[in-house]
Amino acid sequence: MKLHMLWLVFVLIVVETNATKQGKNATIPALIVFGDSIMDTGNNNNLPTLLKCNFPPYGKDFISGLATGRFSDGRVPSDLIAEKLGLAKTLPAYMNRNLKPKDLLKGVTFASGGTGYDPLTAKIMSVISVWDQLTYFKEYISKIKKNFGEEKAQNILDNSFFVVVSSSNDLAHTYLAQSHRYDRTSYANFLADSAVKFVRELHKLGARKIGVFSAVPVGCVPLQRTVFGGIFTRGCNKPLNNMAKQFNSRLSPALDSLDKELDGIILYIDVYDTLFDMIQHPKRYGFVVADRGCCGIGSLAISYMCNSLNPFTCSNSSAYIFWDSYHPTERAYQVIVDKLLDKYLSKVI
Ligand SMILES: *[C@@H]1O[C@H](CO)[C@@H](O)[C@H](O)[C@H]1NC(C)=O
Ligand SMILES: *[C@@H]1O[C@H](CO)[C@@H](O)[C@H](O)[C@H]1NC(C)=O
Repeated sequence: MKLHMLWLVFVLIVVETNATKQGKNATIPALIVFGDSIMDTGNNNNLPTLLKCNFPPYGKDFISGLATGRFSDGRVPSDLIAEKLGLAKTLPAYMNRNLKPKDLLKGVTFASGGTGYDPLTAKIMSVISVWDQLTYFKEYISKIKKNFGEEKAQNILDNSFFVVVSSSNDLAHTYLAQSHRYDRTSYANFLADSAVKFVRELHKLGARKIGVFSAVPVGCVPLQRTVFGGIFTRGCNKPLNNMAKQFNSRLSPALDSLDKELDGIILYIDVYDTLFDMIQHPKRYGFVVADRGCCGIGSLAISYMCNSLNPFTCSNSSAYIFWDSYHPTERAYQVIVDKLLDKYLSKVI
């Protein structure tokens, strides 16, 4: 009898904790994004960096065909997730000088192409480090307070979906500059620990629903195939993919325990397997080409090498997984977001 009572109390506590953890089915007021080119909608446009793409043929499939600074032919995942959440078709870049206070209300992206968790990555590329993005986020919140009041700011902190996407540039580029200090495994671990530190900082600033993307199979992007995959075979760069997997295998359990430790919801969002499967079996997803980008001759071009002077850009980017030699097309992003959001978004809505 006594044992039964204890058991019941235990079950009630578990049910109660789960209910609090999931929160009310509040609508998401805003999407707030940190990270790199996957999520950048134009933050690099006014920076003194070579890593920008606010010129054609970037944006050729964007609404009205404009090159906005998105590293793709069309929209990028920040936009696609904002659309899924019913917020807007596009997510503004925080550094856009034309933003008015009301444009901030449904969220912004602080992401900067070329950045990473390693502070050295942003330094090499002259872009905004994820750590500086947190400083801009503080400024964002104070702008919301100033223009719309404390309560609105609190609602945005409590209920918005916060997304963090980084690591590709650290793994693919900065590691080469750091290899005297780290071996592959310890560098991947250092990055995963940095990601966890980032989430803690973001949580301290008030964010409560945080999703962190895994690393992607960055060894399979066309550029890596061209440089490291063999002249004729152009296979994936396996050691680099293994580093990405090491990062993920350390990040995933660390975020799970953070989810238990902190209030709110901390999600590890696995993108590796989905993108890898798309690259291995493009036809299953309606793609024709997986090992070259649409822009230029598709094997090396990125940023200024993919501009209107090159005559080779493909006409149908929907048939390609990659837009340039590093970044997916809007259609590939849409496939990933559709697949992921069904799985993960229900946990934060
Ligand atoms: C929660 O909100 C979503 C999105 O508005 C809706 O589809 C879903 O049915 C709601 N769930 C519950 C349990 O009310
Ligand atoms: C473009 O490619 C997609 C995907 O392979 C295909 O479904 C579509 O028919 C193609 N469009 C044209 C105009 O060829």
